[in-house]
Amino acid sequence: MIMSEIINLTIIGGVNKDGVDEPIRSVDICRGEIVGIVGPTGSGKSTLIDDIEQLAQGDTPTGRTILINGEKPDANIRVDPRKKLVAQLSQNMHFLADMTVEEFLQMHARSRGKDEGLVTRVIELANTLAGEPIAAHHHLTALSGGQSRSLMTADIAVISDSPVVLIDEIENAGIKKQEALQLLAGEGKIVVVVTHDPVLALMSSRRIVIRNGGMADIITTSLQEQDVCDRITEVDNWLMSLRETIRRGDIVEGIA
Ligand SMILES: Nc1ncnc2c1ncn2[C@@H]1O[C@H](COP(=O)(O)OP(=O)(O)OP(=O)(O)O)[C@@H](O)[C@H]1O
Ligand SMILES: [Mg+2]
Repeated sequence: MIMSEIINLTIIGGVNKDGVDEPIRSVDICRGEIVGIVGPTGSGKSTLIDDIEQLAQGDTPTGRTILINGEKPDANIRVDPRKKLVAQLSQNMHFLADMTVEEFLQMHARSRGKDEGLVTRVIELANTLAGEPIAAHHHLTALSGGQSRSLMTADIAVISDSPVVLIDEIENAGIKKQEALQLLAGEGKIVVVVTHDPVLALMSSRRIVIRNGGMADIITTSLQEQDVCDRITEVDNWLMSLRETIRRGDIVEGIA
């Protein structure tokens, strides 16, 4: 299967933390769709993301099965990095190797069979999402939390180009979350985003509600919710500009 042939992903329900069948038995997600995952702390949101990441086949604690285009994915898709269907921006980000930003991106581009010229593009894009600019010669281990997330976001968008993108709580990463989500959702990907943030949750077309380890409900974003989303976006942009003012060390001038 060629990656661009991916058109949909199906989550077949398993069991919740009590070992009881989860209420939602199956969820179909199509190309170009953003789906949210919401639920209380510790309810099992990251666990659902991990099931998708691993293309679970009834072999994880939840017993869920992930289908690609209605079929069980080939074994080689699960292991070959070039065929990697799923890219993940995870809650905890640490780099194992101490190399420069440029070395890391070049290595990643090579491993994906991509042109090393993309490296500059990744750094440019990353710098549209974070504050202090990242430079090619910077060491990965010296990047701030927000800079690392920005770099990984741009890397996923440009070099990985996996058709399925999983995002775990991007809102606390100190980066422009909406821009990041739009960047990752570009070009007809399937995006699954764990979030408590009203803007991100309402930017998705549907959201899966997790309770006690199980998929308890699916809510389709209503027109009214889309209106609310537009309004919170304005408030959110205002808050972001205030944060930026404070960050720069400037004085807040009051409400215009
Ligand atoms: N269906 C399940 N069966 C058994 N254990 C589960 C199930 N779902 C989640 N768990 C367990 O519950 C714990 C919390 O899950 P998880 O980390 O996914 O929660 P979370 O919603 O992401 O929390 P947070 O909001 O803090 O990030 C983990 O130890 C996980 O293994
Ligand atoms: Mg989590």
